[in-house]
Amino acid sequence: MPRRRALIAGNWKMHKTAAEAAVLTTEIRALLPAEPEVDVLLLPPYPCLQTVHGALQGDRRVQLGAQDCHWEDSGAFTGEVSAGMLAAWCQHVLVGHSERRQLFHESDGTVRAKLEAVLRSGMEPILAVGETEAERRSGATRDVLVRQARAGLVGLPREQVLLCTVAYEPVWAIGTGAAAEPGDIAEAALILRGVIEEAASGDAAEVRILYGGSVTPESAPALLSADGVAGALVGGASLSAPQFCGITAAASP
Ligand code: 13P
Repeated sequence: MPRRRALIAGNWKMHKTAAEAAVLTTEIRALLPAEPEVDVLLLPPYPCLQTVHGALQGDRRVQLGAQDCHWEDSGAFTGEVSAGMLAAWCQHVLVGHSERRQLFHESDGTVRAKLEAVLRSGMEPILAVGETEAERRSGATRDVLVRQARAGLVGLPREQVLLCTVAYEPVWAIGTGAAAEPGDIAEAALILRGVIEEAASGDAAEVRILYGGSVTPESAPALLSADGVAGALVGGASLSAPQFCGITAAASP
């Protein structure tokens, strides 16, 4: 199986009303080339999914995903959204973003349960992992990445591992303007590749590893040239069509 082409995903986080989301989607569609050489994915907030789906008008250049989901298929979980509810609009669901882990106290076990819910609903999970500043300073980066990636992936059937994407997002690089160094990203990608192969019981070149953390059109060429990286998970810059499409252009071979 050949390595899959790069994926550029825009995580809009808690930004954009439905009306604003429609505008941004239309702007992105206008700026993308007719045949992009990368996969493009938008991750709007839940209430914007239907609107963005409509604004895409079946545009095959852009995929749609969600930023999170609940781990159960249904039940008394006020305020939550199940993976099955998202499947009408989404091909992908992000799980384990550091903001979920830190601000909403999600454990590795919770993240794993969510990832399995995504797979049960026929979608492809994007598993986010990454060390905090304190963990980096104490030399724990490798241990954190291995623990988070193993908890997410090991024990899944190989064919399910192959449906996953892993996003390396060092927490200290998110929203700070201080992206990781390409050498450090390559080192993290190598560690993650080891866990992916462990989980898949062999080569799994089709599982992409993304980098996320202060990616801009200016920083993208260096960041995306890091060994083992096949795309980006973009936060702030994904809220601007020119910036987001600039990153997709930078990621094109
Ligand atoms: P920034 O690109 O704003 O640093 O955010 C990265 C991120 O958290 C994407 O999920």
